[in-house]
Amino acid sequence: MSQVASVWKGGGRRIHMQEVGTRDGLQMESAFVPTDDKIALVNALSATGLAKIEVTSFTSPTAIPALKDAEIVMREIERRPGVVYTALVPNLRGAERAIEARTDELNLVMSVSETHNLANLRMTREQSFAALAQVIALAQSAQVAVNVSLSCVFGCPMEGDVAEAEVFDYVQRFAQLGVGGVTLCDTTGMAHPAQVAGIVSAVRLRWSALQTTLHFHNTRGMGLANVLASIDAGADRFDASLGGLGGCPYAPGASGNVCSEEIVHALQCMGYDTGVDLSALVAAAGRLPALIGHDIPSQIAKAGPRWALHPVPADFEAIRARAMAR
Ligand code: COA
Ligand code: ZN
Repeated sequence: MSQVASVWKGGGRRIHMQEVGTRDGLQMESAFVPTDDKIALVNALSATGLAKIEVTSFTSPTAIPALKDAEIVMREIERRPGVVYTALVPNLRGAERAIEARTDELNLVMSVSETHNLANLRMTREQSFAALAQVIALAQSAQVAVNVSLSCVFGCPMEGDVAEAEVFDYVQRFAQLGVGGVTLCDTTGMAHPAQVAGIVSAVRLRWSALQTTLHFHNTRGMGLANVLASIDAGADRFDASLGGLGGCPYAPGASGNVCSEEIVHALQCMGYDTGVDLSALVAAAGRLPALIGHDIPSQIAKAGPRWALHPVPADFEAIRARAMAR
């Protein structure tokens, strides 16, 4: 397979895959996944070759009860060298908890849409920026890496389009504060490939030193197309969610992230090097239905990879003989 794939477009180019299922995915689930099962799931994911895992979020347990066990999970997972263990952090309190639990990287979040920021974080964008500036200062003094996830970059479900100039303004302001990376989030699946190409190439060009991640939801079936458009525009780092779980509880219509195993499978077919062992990833996805109590949207979990061939019909030789005799 890889021999054939290497002649395709990807040419072995490295694409970093970051798992967000244990945060973006589980935060939406009504069933509380037991802490030990979360830890076992992260440990299984650690062994697949992913570059980064968003293990949990240090949010208010009232706001996100599904992840109220963040400390225990972060402390008790096995840390595999080379994997970055990150967590979503909404405020100073979350940052203190995350640092205390030995989180490798704080993933701060604010929305570039004023309406969505108020709905999700209960603050204006300027209040969020000021608060996150304090969190960044705390993380820097503790020598913990910081990434900032900007929600609704490609559109807000309540406001509609967000001006690109406003997006770039926030990227610039966070870059000036010295963050290591920025994630451009398509929180409710409003991005389309033509739009993605423009924004990604502009960000890569202007902020080449920033680690840039793309975070797409597959709400309108454009997730994989957006990933491919981003790669063509120079991106090499993607969030994706095991089984295709995910969504923001404060964003109307939000549904699953792009599915990790579908993206890894597509990129592998095209000759990119994700470093991820697809069968190990599919095996990890196979744990999900029992944990969350329902089926997962993943098409690869259902269909298998394109190289998993099926046997010919039992009477195939008879069919061939009849056809040849005609
Ligand atoms: N960790 C633990 N508890 C926290 C917390 C944190 N990071 N942030 C706030 N709290 C607690 C406060 O201690 C307070 O508890 P109390 O009522 O027992 O005193 C309560 O939450 C309310 O705190 P307040 O500062 O008034 O914040 P808020 O209610 O305005 O909440 C957020 C703001 C953003 C922290 C909260 O709504 C949240 O965590 N939301 C989740 C956002 C999210 O993850 N969305 C999906 C992903 S994008
Ligand atoms: Zn998301």
